[in-house]
Amino acid sequence: MDKTDILLLIDKAIEASKFSHSPYSNFKVGAALITTDGKIYTGCNIENASYGLTICAERTAIFKAMSEGEHDFSAIAVYADTGKNLISPCGACRQIISEFCPNAEVIMCNREKNYRIMTPGQLLPFSFGDKDFK
Ligand code: THU
Repeated sequence: MDKTDILLLIDKAIEASKFSHSPYSNFKVGAALITTDGKIYTGCNIENASYGLTICAERTAIFKAMSEGEHDFSAIAVYADTGKNLISPCGACRQIISEFCPNAEVIMCNREKNYRIMTPGQLLPFSFGDKDFK
């Protein structure tokens, strides 16, 4: 991904965060996932009165894409308004990203569009299901 594509994906994640349903945490998160053939799927976090049923933005985007037959992803951008800090995916999302988007760049960004890119393996080394772990 070149910088233009990265910034475009970040814009999509920022847009998606506006649909966040987060009345309990007031923490709006957006994600944008791009397939290897260039289709973009977005997601936001959706909370529930039974808090544990909440789904994160990353998983919303990944499940939307997979439910439409997509399996090959090249990047996922994650955004939340965390000031100067960058949003970093939660442990559950790291597991999902590792299994379903193993070759995707994970782009973690903030409102100023500063970002860091890491691999799923850097975010979750020795993940459950890692077939190379001996
Ligand atoms: N959240 C995400 O959507 N993605 C993450 O990577 C971290 C957390 C959501 C879940 C919940 O709705 C809110 O942020 C606060 O935890």
